[in-house]
Amino acid sequence: MIDNQTLQRIQEKLDEGKLPQWVKYDADIFQMEIDKIFGTTWNYLGHVSELHEPGSYVTRWIANDPILLTKNKDGEIQAFLNSCTHRGAKLCTTDYGNSKAFTCPYHGWTYDSDGQLIGVTAGNKVYGKEMVRDEWALRPVPRLEIYAGLIFGNLDVNAMPLESYLGNLKWYLDILVNRTEGGLEVLGVPQRWVVQTNWKVTAENFCADSYHALTAHRSTVEMGISPDFVSQAGFGYQIKLHHGHGLNLVLNPPGMDSFKYQGLPNQLWPLFQHKLSADQLSILEHLQVHVGNCFPNLSWVSIPQSVGHEFVTTFVNLRVWRPIAPDKIEICSWVLIDKEAPEAYKHQANRAYIISFGPSGTLEEDDCEIWTRITECSKASMARDKDLRYDNVLNYLMGFDRVQPDENFPGPGVAYPTWLLDTSIRNFWEEWLRLLRAN
Ligand code: FES
Ligand SMILES: [Fe+2]
Repeated sequence: MIDNQTLQRIQEKLDEGKLPQWVKYDADIFQMEIDKIFGTTWNYLGHVSELHEPGSYVTRWIANDPILLTKNKDGEIQAFLNSCTHRGAKLCTTDYGNSKAFTCPYHGWTYDSDGQLIGVTAGNKVYGKEMVRDEWALRPVPRLEIYAGLIFGNLDVNAMPLESYLGNLKWYLDILVNRTEGGLEVLGVPQRWVVQTNWKVTAENFCADSYHALTAHRSTVEMGISPDFVSQAGFGYQIKLHHGHGLNLVLNPPGMDSFKYQGLPNQLWPLFQHKLSADQLSILEHLQVHVGNCFPNLSWVSIPQSVGHEFVTTFVNLRVWRPIAPDKIEICSWVLIDKEAPEAYKHQANRAYIISFGPSGTLEEDDCEIWTRITECSKASMARDKDLRYDNVLNYLMGFDRVQPDENFPGPGVAYPTWLLDTSIRNFWEEWLRLLRAN
């Protein structure tokens, strides 16, 4: 177990803009995170467009809890622990589908999409009055709430409402997922892959580490498939938000209009004007890349990519970094686009995602290789020394005490006039530590 003194030492280093490296790989910290972070915060489960009709279901996770997400016969979305109430077997073992009922593979108990126990094998022959079926329904996720098509669950029945938790992030999420009447829709089904790294390494990357694009993703700029964020370095904003959320807005430099509205199809532009405020619309008009993290582990990136000659297309990629072990995550990754986009554009958006941020995409491969190496190094003896005898702290100093917020920025939160900054990453780590230290 990690004692208070050790947590205090982390706080002291964070106050100096540094982070002890051992926190990126530690079994005790990992278990504390499962209980104190994933057990209390809002966790992304999926998008409403994945549950097309009554009987639709998908299986998901909140950290190590398997979750069954269903749409019942009345069209209501429900979430349950995906574990049979008889002896605890995993109930539904497929990723998605449509079914009126779920039958456990162990002894055959059957539940409907409301989680009610509707069938018991050999029923009255093996049970008498000791069996009261109503008492053996699936256990619901205590809180389930939806914002702009995004479905979240929370294991803490006393958690603040989802909208309060998202707080000032909503203004920026709206630019991304809530900009037309129809909202976004998921293309296909989410992809999943396992990476030998820690969930915080990936979350901090999307939260505010656009700095790495200059080096790790430089080859994609040189190949002409990514925007030239090397020569445009820093043009845009980094936004620090409540509850550990953070994001970067990479904007087009003045005079550059090739990515107007991110290269999204012209047919959508009037729809944006209808749905967004003037300030939000102005950001979307000049936006190139929207990348960030909703604490703890829902990240997104929306970036124009070339798919073939001269064709620039944009998508929205949502991803959950599911913690499996201190050195292991599963990435669950959705590609989405506005429902009203032309079919041909949706097809191109899917391709643009696959070649960039899909499991074997160019940018994804760049990142996964490095994330794996960070974990490899963070497991080593010197890095893991909690007494910090080897100066085993990492640098989170960019802009520290120097770069000041832009008071004229129209959006909520604290906006800094560059995305080359560690402010939002420190904000992420501050919230992480605050929750670990909470009772
Ligand atoms: S464990 Fe599911 S029916 Fe027995
Ligand atoms: Fe990256």
